[in-house]
Amino acid sequence: MSEKVKKPVYQPNREFAKDARIKNMCEYNDLHRWAEEDYEGYWDHFAKEKIDWMEPYHTVLDESNMPFARWFEGGKLNVAEQCIDRHLDTRKNKAAIIFEGDRGDSQIITYRELYYNTNKMANLLKNEFGVKKGDRVIIYMPMIPEAAYAMLACARIGAIHSIVFGGFSAEALRDRIADAEAKVVITADGAYRKSKPYMLKPVVDKALDGETPVEKVCVVERNGGDITWVPGRDYSYNELVKDQPSECPAEPMDSEDPLFLLYTSGSTGQPKGVQHNSAGYILWAQMTMEWVFDVKENDTYWCTADIGWITGHTYIVYGPLAMGATTIMFEGVPTYPDAGRPWKMVEEYKINQFYTAPTAIRVLHKLGENEPAKYDLSSLKVLGTVGEPIDPPAWKWYYEEIGNSKCAIVDTYWQTETGGHIVSPLPGATPIKPACATLPLPGIMGEILDPETGKKTEVGEGGYMCVTRPWPSMIRGVWGDPERFKKSYFGDVVKDGKPVYFTGDGANYDEDGYITITGRTDDVINVSGHRMGTAEVEAAVKKHAGVAEVAVVGKPHELKGEGIFAYIVLKGEDTLAEEIEMVKEINQVIKKEIGNIALCDEMVFVPGLPKTRSGKIMRRILRAIAKGEEITQDTSTLEDPGVVEEIQSVVNSCMI
Ligand code: WTA
Repeated sequence: MSEKVKKPVYQPNREFAKDARIKNMCEYNDLHRWAEEDYEGYWDHFAKEKIDWMEPYHTVLDESNMPFARWFEGGKLNVAEQCIDRHLDTRKNKAAIIFEGDRGDSQIITYRELYYNTNKMANLLKNEFGVKKGDRVIIYMPMIPEAAYAMLACARIGAIHSIVFGGFSAEALRDRIADAEAKVVITADGAYRKSKPYMLKPVVDKALDGETPVEKVCVVERNGGDITWVPGRDYSYNELVKDQPSECPAEPMDSEDPLFLLYTSGSTGQPKGVQHNSAGYILWAQMTMEWVFDVKENDTYWCTADIGWITGHTYIVYGPLAMGATTIMFEGVPTYPDAGRPWKMVEEYKINQFYTAPTAIRVLHKLGENEPAKYDLSSLKVLGTVGEPIDPPAWKWYYEEIGNSKCAIVDTYWQTETGGHIVSPLPGATPIKPACATLPLPGIMGEILDPETGKKTEVGEGGYMCVTRPWPSMIRGVWGDPERFKKSYFGDVVKDGKPVYFTGDGANYDEDGYITITGRTDDVINVSGHRMGTAEVEAAVKKHAGVAEVAVVGKPHELKGEGIFAYIVLKGEDTLAEEIEMVKEINQVIKKEIGNIALCDEMVFVPGLPKTRSGKIMRRILRAIAKGEEITQDTSTLEDPGVVEEIQSVVNSCMI
């Protein structure tokens, strides 16, 4: 038997730990035990401590209609008030947002300014566009401060925002608008990338072409590019906002009133609108900011995500602002003008916490190995990663070259659905191991379970990453589809007779009880930390008239973590010239239907797909072939077992 190589362990920095909010494992264990012994008392304590309630709640947790848990019932609050108003007494002149544009332009927005800007935008939505509590507003914006004002303005008047990542195509935007039945779209003319202007408004125009629930479009000026205006529908934010009153009363919201929807990919069908509600979400956003990043009053914190993803929601806007921190918003790309850009910014802004994705770390390492040495990175205290498992070489570079072997790396594991981190080291307490998310955060009942028995798995044995009790920031529903919510998250694992929340990820425990996330167990591909459903990509490819069948799988990719590998069966003649043309055309279709993020890294044209007799595509076989692995599955149950060899020979010939 081969001896298992133990991962090295790095103890927390003792100096840092002295002032950390959670200082050692005893404190971690105490909190964890408290939650285990008195779950409701634990959450009650923090809800009272962290939230400024307009009206107190009467019930901490109502589990009578699981999986639809309800938290802090009876309470009233307003999330925008949590993020802005309550800081005005003590922090009115503190930087709330520091914005750095793609071209190096910058802007500091204090809490006072954030208050006025948000109120004005809230008044604009209310007075000019008639937006009311419960209405859905789509935000399709670049990374500029107005995007944060838009989010907070919606929260202030009780509208439900749904941000669509700016890289999504008109078709993808149209689908999300339709599903959310949005009344208003907030967008910008465009923005800048690598010093060049790019446009967003034309994408919105296309998405609204034909029948649409959208009545008004609010356009923020960013790059001044030429755009067309539809009279009666399109309005200039810059024109209208000037005349808005700078006070807007915050709408009292019930704890369980929706705050936002965010569309994310699942294993089947169209993206689902993950719904997060007010109190529980903001509570955990703030608690994890404080515990996991341990941001202090004078710190400057930078999360490089885009607000189009959940990380941007919780850890650029809501979490940092709820705790009164200074958060950086960056419009550009980390490798422009060179791969030293983030490190230059760390030096310039004296950044204390830096949070990014493994993909970015790999790219920055590859393109700029010597860049970190050119800058003073000594302000850094905590480094974070998110979005996909980080590989040990990237972890090592991050730890040694960026963190100078003195910063904790918090490998934060979570999802759109969990609202905030669920498994992560605490920088002052948890001894860390490379590429390991370590332990559930205090209060989160995270366990790796055997899907067959519902029992906790043994050391080294793979299982399903689950959460066995509802927690405040968990997904409250899939917009408009309660059955899909139940089926997607509570159908696979049953513990002690009760369905539990299953994340969709595989994981295992090591000898110290640490959790390592091994990746999705379903048909979701994680490309550069972005979730893509195979069904979504396949539906796009099928729109090409020449495609008879398609199956898409993930394949390990040096920089992206996973790349998209497509097996395509053509309708017509399958000649080389035809295939070359088809690669281009199919990628065009994907770009139109979803956006550049879903382009295929590899396409192979095959005579057929491996299917069971009931017609289900055996993706496991296709995944193995893409990776060049031996096929260990039984292929005798396939409709046409011979097809596997045929596919293998096509793939092998492509790889030569
Ligand atoms: C993956 C992003 C390993 C996981 C916040 C999850 C991770 C999906 C980690 C959610 C991590 C996220 N280690 N895998 N630290 N963090 N993932 O919804 O597969 O865009 O299910 O949320 O990313 O992606 P989402």
